[in-house]
Amino acid sequence: MDLFDDLPLEPDALRTEVAPGAVLLRGLARSHEGALLAALQGVQAQAPAHHLQTPGGYTMSVQTTSCGQLGWVSDRHGYRYSATNPSTRTPWPALPDSFATLAAEAAAQAGYPGFVPDACLVNEYAPGAKMSLHQDKDERDLRAPIVSVSLGLPCVFQFGGLQRNAPTQRLRLAHGDVLVWGGPTRLAFHGVLPLADGHHPLLGRKRVNLTFRKAG
Ligand code: SIN
Ligand code: FE2
Repeated sequence: MDLFDDLPLEPDALRTEVAPGAVLLRGLARSHEGALLAALQGVQAQAPAHHLQTPGGYTMSVQTTSCGQLGWVSDRHGYRYSATNPSTRTPWPALPDSFATLAAEAAAQAGYPGFVPDACLVNEYAPGAKMSLHQDKDERDLRAPIVSVSLGLPCVFQFGGLQRNAPTQRLRLAHGDVLVWGGPTRLAFHGVLPLADGHHPLLGRKRVNLTFRKAG
């Protein structure tokens, strides 16, 4: 399978518009990786990631935590943003400066200047973990884009349309790649195929995704 089959432009272009309003910035986070990984460790220490329950009673294969004013939580009662971490009953760790700076830079390069996220969802994928197709639609203001940063092992990311059954393109997202979507594709369905095993020099046997949103 050639993962780049669906890409209209050369796969390694630094900036690729993969769909209207959706821009892939290859390797953008690499120059920030030292600060990002140090900050990530701080967040994980303060707010350890867990396998969340879905409202339907399933256990998610990814482990999740958050930082910023709002964190995304899921349990038997539904999906929502919360100002406190249900595991610790304390506020989420603050959004690290390195995270906020990268998110704003990526959004600006993708055509969304002035992005100030108030929520960062941290998803950790071990080999085999996946994320089924879904829309990010729990945010109050859909004018702000989604900024998604990939770290560690590469994944196959599915980027679809506004209907669940629309065709999806498959993008290989590697360490440091940043995908931004908004405007006409803000509510695009997206997901991650089961993570292939491997070893990343900085993160070992895992992939970490940081998703920045303006939720409140
Ligand atoms: C998500 O949609 O919440 C995660 C996407 C990803 O891991 O790349
Ligand atoms: Fe998502």
